[in-house]
Amino acid sequence: MVLLDGKKTSADIRKEIALEVEELKKNNKKAPHLVAIIVGNNGASITYVNAKVKACKEVGFESTLIELPKEISEQELINKINTLNNDKFIDGFIVQLPLPEHINEENIIMAINPDKDVDGFHPTNIGKMTLNLPTFIPATPFGILELLERYKIETSGKNVIVIGRSNIVGTPISILLGQKRNVGNATVTLTHSRTVDLPKITKQADIIIVALGVPNFLKADMVKEGVVIVDVGITRVEDTSKKNRFKLIGDVDFKEVSQKASYITPVPGGVGPMTIAMLLKNTLLACKRK
Ligand code: GUN
Repeated sequence: MVLLDGKKTSADIRKEIALEVEELKKNNKKAPHLVAIIVGNNGASITYVNAKVKACKEVGFESTLIELPKEISEQELINKINTLNNDKFIDGFIVQLPLPEHINEENIIMAINPDKDVDGFHPTNIGKMTLNLPTFIPATPFGILELLERYKIETSGKNVIVIGRSNIVGTPISILLGQKRNVGNATVTLTHSRTVDLPKITKQADIIIVALGVPNFLKADMVKEGVVIVDVGITRVEDTSKKNRFKLIGDVDFKEVSQKASYITPVPGGVGPMTIAMLLKNTLLACKRK
């Protein structure tokens, strides 16, 4: 079994990006500037956004964190987004999800200028992605493609099963892997809560991508020998032995499934760090496009 080491791969990518930023600066060009907006005080979201901002600094980007109170109205948030849309010193920005219940996520995503939507969530960018046109690919699916590519895992002609149909992961990765592209040309099945007899389907899979948010969901008796496993789950579970009092649990029962897998991502240290690296990649792209 080979570990798909997202931590190391992400560090390699960040080094490559840092070199490009140095090159830009040498040529008297401005460093890319990413802004992250966070609304409210969801612990996990704060951790993720801080990690994104820190990663920006490490590769030589400029970054700004905008923290807004959870009571902010939808219109006030849209006004903030419009300011960023019109600020020529900002290459890209993200609004960390989830948002408080009184704010409609769709309205917020729709307000972002697609040229600055480095999360790739705007319908214009999802549409371009679906048509295999140049765009910002959402960071988590983009990270999965990059991880498979760097570990030279063949996808062409393979049976891929995606578990979970979220807009951020399951749906886009199922579209991407079916496309005629470098890491693609797979036969993809998108499964979800209404799927009948999931184990029968997952046992046929050469590659399984699990993005459900249900800890230890995928068990060894659901997979075949030699399967490639990509675990996108990162559920926080209380663990009083840890300094920060929680640990992260993936959607795959790693102990069991790693006995049968040929390749598998760990949690943490698999897909998570790749997401951050690909957000940086999208921000660099946004900057270069201008
Ligand atoms: N929440 C969980 N993943 C993401 C992400 O990739 N981007 C944003 N903006 N919010 C998220």
